[in-house]
Amino acid sequence: MPTSPTRIALITGANKGLGFETARQLGRQGVTVLVGARDAARGAAAASTLAGEGIAAHHIAIEVTDAASISAAAAEVERRFGRLDILVNNAGVLDYANDTGVETTSLATLRRVFETNFFGLVAVTQAFLPLLRRSDAGRIVNLSSILGSIGEHSDPNSPIYAMRFPAYDASKAAVNMYTAELAQTLKGTAIKVNAAHPGWVKTDMGGEQAPMQIIDGVKTSVALATLPADGPTGGYWHLGVHLRW
Ligand SMILES: NC(=O)c1ccc[n+]([C@@H]2O[C@H](COP(=O)([O-])OP(=O)(O)OC[C@H]3O[C@@H](n4cnc5c(N)ncnc54)[C@H](OP(=O)(O)O)[C@@H]3O)[C@@H](O)[C@H]2O)c1
Repeated sequence: MPTSPTRIALITGANKGLGFETARQLGRQGVTVLVGARDAARGAAAASTLAGEGIAAHHIAIEVTDAASISAAAAEVERRFGRLDILVNNAGVLDYANDTGVETTSLATLRRVFETNFFGLVAVTQAFLPLLRRSDAGRIVNLSSILGSIGEHSDPNSPIYAMRFPAYDASKAAVNMYTAELAQTLKGTAIKVNAAHPGWVKTDMGGEQAPMQIIDGVKTSVALATLPADGPTGGYWHLGVHLRW
């Protein structure tokens, strides 16, 4: 089985937005980046842009709601690299048009959003865990959001207190729970698992009015993906600060 001396990272949803920039920043640190994308043309274009910047980047086809796509991706990574060091579960959706409120968001919307944000994340993690266990410093970063914090949603003084995207918010709260339980399960192994809130960032999802630039929005994910051996596991982070769950 092939092994690589450089670290290998898979970033899902890396054809644009935070995922693309996370791949770029990890690549600049010498990590070989696997640019996960569900659309072959967009994924190949993103990987080729990064390769043009001198980064070791390869497109991997991965649609996180499709079990066959996930297992094909895991088989490809095993065949080409023999292991995985970093998994950034970045792919996510926020359905502004239909995720309208606790009384109006339909079950269909809840299910669709959970398919990507939660079930997809769990499926990708489970498929790649055997490869991450082969790493001497496995790192899993789960893109959550401050909108997944029940503590913030319960605090009238919180800036997000009145924000209501019930499907998105609950899917990210579920990501937080999975992160905490997985980290505890993996205690004693070389794998660390953390949840990241990137900030409110100018991407297609965050919108033009978002205050943070993408370059700053990826700092939390990149830091958690490259944690040292004495770094934390099982936390919920934004720029080095632990958020309340
Ligand atoms: N931007 C913010 O302010 C903000 C704040 C908090 C948390 N986050 C989280 O950060 C992550 C990245 O967000 P972003 O702002 O970069 O969003 P974005 O610009 O909308 O990018 C989302 C990425 O996820 C991919 N994706 C969506 N569904 C997928 C699926 N089923 N399978 C595979 N890939 C899929 C998209 O691929 P396509 O191009 O093919 O659609 C795209 O590459 C998300 O998890 C989001 O919830 C963002």
